[in-house]
Amino acid sequence: MDYFNYKGKNLYAEEVPVSRIAKEVGTPVYIYSKRTLNRHLAAYGDAFASVPHLICYSVKANSNLSVLSTFVKGGSGFDIVSGGELFRALKAGGDPKKIVFSGVGKRDDEIEYALNAGILLFNVESGDELRAINRIAKRLKKKAPVSIRINPDVDPKTHPYISTGLKKNKFGIETKEAFKEYINAKAKLKNIELLGVDCHIGSQLTEIGPFVDAVRKIKRFIKRLRKEGIDIKYLDLGGGLGIRYDTEEPPHPTEYAEAIIEETKGLDVTLIFEPGRSMAGNAGILVTSVTYTKKGSKKNFVIVDAAMNDLTRPALYGAYHAIEPVRMPPVSSGGELVKADIVGPICETGDFLGQDIRIPPVKNGDLLAVKSAGAYGFTMASNYNSRPRSAEVMADGKEFKIIRKREEYKDLIRGEKIVK
Ligand code: LLP
Repeated sequence: MDYFNYKGKNLYAEEVPVSRIAKEVGTPVYIYSKRTLNRHLAAYGDAFASVPHLICYSVKANSNLSVLSTFVKGGSGFDIVSGGELFRALKAGGDPKKIVFSGVGKRDDEIEYALNAGILLFNVESGDELRAINRIAKRLKKKAPVSIRINPDVDPKTHPYISTGLKKNKFGIETKEAFKEYINAKAKLKNIELLGVDCHIGSQLTEIGPFVDAVRKIKRFIKRLRKEGIDIKYLDLGGGLGIRYDTEEPPHPTEYAEAIIEETKGLDVTLIFEPGRSMAGNAGILVTSVTYTKKGSKKNFVIVDAAMNDLTRPALYGAYHAIEPVRMPPVSSGGELVKADIVGPICETGDFLGQDIRIPPVKNGDLLAVKSAGAYGFTMASNYNSRPRSAEVMADGKEFKIIRKREEYKDLIRGEKIVK
């Protein structure tokens, strides 16, 4: 559920006409809806209200400071995967005691930064990393709070690039090995405090079954650890709940929560969740304007001013995003739809936002909205083809604010030098 709706023929972001934002800010532009962000956070909060839990929004989905600060105000913590994300989370006012640090390749400087900030938990993904954290914590005379990320070998039935919980994936530690790491750490790693168990099996899951399978395996695992005197206080189940891009029917957080609460009954842990896409995905659109149209003998092309550098999901995963006109054509136009590829100006055949999309006929200057672009949109944008990155805007009721200004040419060469 989001707050991008047509009023009459015009698309609105909350109560602001999208065409007004495009006119004042230019295109391409990412537009987020504050009300939608708050609604999604509240949906998780309400769903898990009956059990001890912490929502740690996954910063990688959308890391704009205003988005993060909206979540801070709603009581959210953060899941981070880099020093840069920690920097952003703290800048946005995030409480370090609600931050968990995931990722397979944390560097020494990032570990030190997080230890000094006093984060809640490191989600550790290898024995090597565990020993590195112990070494750094010892040097800093600290105890590092740790969960080990288990690879439960569960198929999340999603795109292979975003499946993470299978034995063939680089993430987490297989259960048998992980058990040994816990036992070894308890005996030998004096600057490690073993507090939790973590897992994240993949992203854009549209079924509950794989989550439940993972919880069942981890539940047994936690009981074994407790028998060894390792007192697990946190169970982090990662993120992964899918959203509707097309015809998917992903479970609502309430449905997801009911299943998880049932499965974890009596386990006596604080549950941690790291949702990204389900919080931000449908809270954002990318608005682009038509530069040219071109008719080929095989295809119609609509060439727009956004490209794969702005939104890379279609090019990278073949992902589908609905694309709709910001202003619906008048009924007198007959209402017929044309089939077209919506493409950007980048010199790659993979530079498309949509293929064989059915839209009303459009012409130069018309605005199109690429839907469900609030997660993994701007955060995956690049400057490829030396294209300045787009502006970001937050709609809030009748108002909107620019929350990241459009990059300029001078931003493209910041830090560069011509050597003599
Ligand atoms: N926690 C961990 C450890 C993760 O690796 C991820 C996502 C999340 C939480 C958040 O998952 P979500 O709730 O958003 O599914 N760029 C891809 C998605 C990559 C997801 C990576 N990990 C895309 O555009 O589909």
